[in-house]
Amino acid sequence: MYRPRCRARRTREGNDESTAPALLRVRNLGVRFGGIVALDDVSFDVAPNRIVGLIGPNGAGKTTLFNCLSRLYQCDNGDIVFDGKSLLRVPRHRIAASVSAGRSRTWRCSAP
Ligand SMILES: Nc1ncnc2c1ncn2[C@@H]1O[C@H](COP(=O)(O)OP(=O)(O)OP(=O)(O)O)[C@@H](O)[C@H]1O
Ligand SMILES: [Mg+2]
Repeated sequence: MYRPRCRARRTREGNDESTAPALLRVRNLGVRFGGIVALDDVSFDVAPNRIVGLIGPNGAGKTTLFNCLSRLYQCDNGDIVFDGKSLLRVPRHRIAASVSAGRSRTWRCSAP
């Protein structure tokens, strides 16, 4: 039987990571492209100091979600809160420099 080895670690403040306040909170995110519902009521939290992945079949909405997180796409519903502040209220061009310093979006590049 597979037994995961990871355990909840303690943060520097002594909080259990599983109960630490989320650094990123996505709430009820919705995105439509005409009649296509790309994201439907998506909610999740990411705690500080955690590395997480997003998986799903083709067309599940992974790229759309990241495009919303980076504000490349406009969300139709919901909120994205980073470090206690809504990213949807920050002008796009200020996101990397202000609220969420260090957060950025990259694209795959083919080697020439
Ligand atoms: N700019 C767009 N205009 C219209 N429809 C779009 C657009 N971007 C995504 N979609 C649609 O939204 C849905 C989610 O697509 P998305 O690219 O986010 O999925 P994905 O999980 O990243 O897929 P893949 O694994 O193939 O990369 C799909 O039905 C897709 O066709
Ligand atoms: Mg994709």
